[in-house]
Amino acid sequence: MLPTVLSIVAAATGVRMPNFGPDFVPSTLDNMNGEYIYSTTPGGTPGMMPKQYRDYPGGAEAYDVYSGPVSTLYSQVWWTALAPTAFPDGMVRKYNGSKVAIVGWEIDQVRRTPKGDISVPISASYNHHFVATMIGAGARFKKISLNGPDDPRAAPLRKRCHGMLNWEQPQYVVEELAGSSSTGATSNAQFSSANGGEYRKSYHGFPPGFALVLDSPTEFQFTPMQIDTWNREKMNISGPLPPAFVAGPEPAASLASSGSSHSGLLECPMTSRLTKEVDVTYAIRTDGCATPILSFQECFAAAAKTLSASGRPPLAYLNTTGSDPHRPVGCSVVLVDEVAKAGLPTTTTLTARVYFNRIVYSTAPCGSMEKLPGSCVCSVNPPPFGQIGGVLMYHANASQAADVGSGAADRFSPGKCAPSPATTILEQRNPTCDIRNYQGGQWACHHMWSLLDKEQPIPWADQPLVFQHKWRFWVQPYDPSYHTALTLGESVGSAILLGSPWEYDVPQCGQGVPGCSWECGTVSPGCTWVHTVTGSHMGQHTFVAFNPHCHAPTCLQIDLYTCDKGTALDQCNATTGKLACRVKPVYGDAGHPAIQNTRFSEPGFIAIPDCFWGKAENGLEPPLNLTDVPLHVVKKCNATEGHYGEMSGGQPWVIV
Ligand SMILES: *[C@@H]1O[C@H](CO)[C@@H](O)[C@H](O)[C@H]1NC(C)=O
Ligand SMILES: *[C@@H]1O[C@H](CO)[C@@H](O)[C@H](O)[C@H]1NC(C)=O
Ligand SMILES: *[C@@H]1O[C@H](CO)[C@@H](O)[C@H](O)[C@H]1NC(C)=O
Ligand SMILES: *[C@@H]1O[C@H](CO)[C@@H](O)[C@H](O)[C@H]1NC(C)=O
Ligand SMILES: *[C@@H]1O[C@H](CO)[C@@H](O)[C@H](O)[C@H]1NC(C)=O
Ligand SMILES: *[C@@H]1O[C@H](CO)[C@@H](O)[C@H](O)[C@H]1NC(C)=O
Repeated sequence: MLPTVLSIVAAATGVRMPNFGPDFVPSTLDNMNGEYIYSTTPGGTPGMMPKQYRDYPGGAEAYDVYSGPVSTLYSQVWWTALAPTAFPDGMVRKYNGSKVAIVGWEIDQVRRTPKGDISVPISASYNHHFVATMIGAGARFKKISLNGPDDPRAAPLRKRCHGMLNWEQPQYVVEELAGSSSTGATSNAQFSSANGGEYRKSYHGFPPGFALVLDSPTEFQFTPMQIDTWNREKMNISGPLPPAFVAGPEPAASLASSGSSHSGLLECPMTSRLTKEVDVTYAIRTDGCATPILSFQECFAAAAKTLSASGRPPLAYLNTTGSDPHRPVGCSVVLVDEVAKAGLPTTTTLTARVYFNRIVYSTAPCGSMEKLPGSCVCSVNPPPFGQIGGVLMYHANASQAADVGSGAADRFSPGKCAPSPATTILEQRNPTCDIRNYQGGQWACHHMWSLLDKEQPIPWADQPLVFQHKWRFWVQPYDPSYHTALTLGESVGSAILLGSPWEYDVPQCGQGVPGCSWECGTVSPGCTWVHTVTGSHMGQHTFVAFNPHCHAPTCLQIDLYTCDKGTALDQCNATTGKLACRVKPVYGDAGHPAIQNTRFSEPGFIAIPDCFWGKAENGLEPPLNLTDVPLHVVKKCNATEGHYGEMSGGQPWVIV
């Protein structure tokens, strides 16, 4: 019996075993998702953290609950707030009027069937991320609708929402109840860490003695972002799990090569259902553009916006993309008096043929709009890279009943990417910094948008994938002399973000591509193209856990360095700093004993082993007080292929 062993250890080392009293019945359940993988900090000793929640000193209770449901068709994104879920009755009743110490939780995605719960493979529905908030009796959720992206209630919500807010969707805000004995951190708490494709096998727990503390727990509210990548014909998700991943149809902009172990959809490629409405004015020019328009999504919107405001507005726009050396680069337009034909207006025949040329070099000049090669559509006085606003708009294909997407994503704002030394992605001209360069990522995903190109039908439209998230909360009665309360770092300014602010693109590497290096034996055995992003930030609060959220299947290594207090941020780097935490994601097919032969052994899937600080008896270094300590993060990705929207979210749990 492990508790006995621990008691002996405790007696020998003077370690205190908590006693949760006569009413406490510890669970004998196994972890829902099996054992987890942890990272060891440079001064730590591996193997001394409990492998099962039930082995926590003093034991732990387990409470299971389902949220949801989520329902999607192939290629659709789910990204909206689910109605609040009540914590299980037993937990609510037991902790009514007292504080619960939540020591961790597990999440799976399951279909509830008459034969029991069946896990949904991550290669069938990809969790891009989730945000979640729990409340106690001192607070309540209120459902609201925002008036627009600039609604004053949007800013705090945006901070809780992975950097971008689906403002068109209903939101849940937390209201503290007047006169309640519990307030602030113990009446409501965010718990959104270790999310993404790694969320099932990454640890959502804390080292023994640390906990998320809530007074009289009542409900939690969960907003998952899921992407349906399930090939209904080739992947049997009712058979032995996991089925081998087989890609379904993908849009032209998908970066996943054929035979990839992941679906290109999970990176939210920009499709032809989208346009870019950029905050800039355009002009039709016969002498060329200083800076050509970079995408068809901006070109078609720019041409329509400019010509519709002209003296002779066309009544139809035919939009085409191609690669033609006889036309100018970028966006051009020819006006034609079309012979009346089906589908075009008969009263007038003036049609704009808008052409986006993919080639980056052409000697073809811009000319008049009357004949080929046509006039150029140019932006006037475009602001510098990274300093422009705009929005992506979705245009459903009206002939596809399954296409129910609509609306706009959140706005891009000027200065979306922070300057160096916070991150190197602005100087690397990462496409995620600027809507004009944007090619894919979470801004191109939105609730119910399809990630197929407009002319591609949404297949298997009669086979929605309906599932729920299954949660197991592991808890102990809060004992103030034993537990130290933790707070999600991003809710108190401790997140370390190297992206724009969360995401960035990993370019396909080659000689001369910014951030790229050919590395042998550094992050993996053998040689590989590696893309590196670094950033320095001032530390805040005391770290107990650190999870660097990143996406399968490009993430290779994340290092966190601490520098001496007083070191200038731009002088804090991997040489001047001291390594505090190194995380190497574990791939689903790497043969790790915690994953091999389980339902999680999917090749294109990763687990992120978190770093922990805590008690010596768990092999941990003491919690790290990083307030006013300069930090440096080095993030390395496999750049053999390109990837959109890789995550860079350094998510600590901290003592405030
Ligand atoms: C907590 O207990 C009080 C007093 O018995 C009761 O009025 C209240 O409804 C309970 N709250 C919950 C959420 O069960
Ligand atoms: C999928 O697997 C289940 C369980 O093995 C089996 O009953 C079912 O027939 C399979 N479905 C297909 C379409 O092969
Ligand atoms: C071409 O693009 C413009 C701008 O999005 C749009 O208004 C127009 O309907 C498109 N034309 C066709 C035929 O889809
Ligand atoms: C780190 O900073 C020091 C001090 O500015 C500098 O000498 C060194 O070259 C830097 N190292 C790296 C790897 O950038
Ligand atoms: C952490 O360090 C800061 C700055 O030195 C200090 O003000 C704070 O009290 C420390 N916090 C703890 C928990 O020791
Ligand atoms: C990098 O990714 C490619 C596929 O894009 C894969 O074949 C290769 O094994 C990966 N290398 C490492 C070191 O993970």
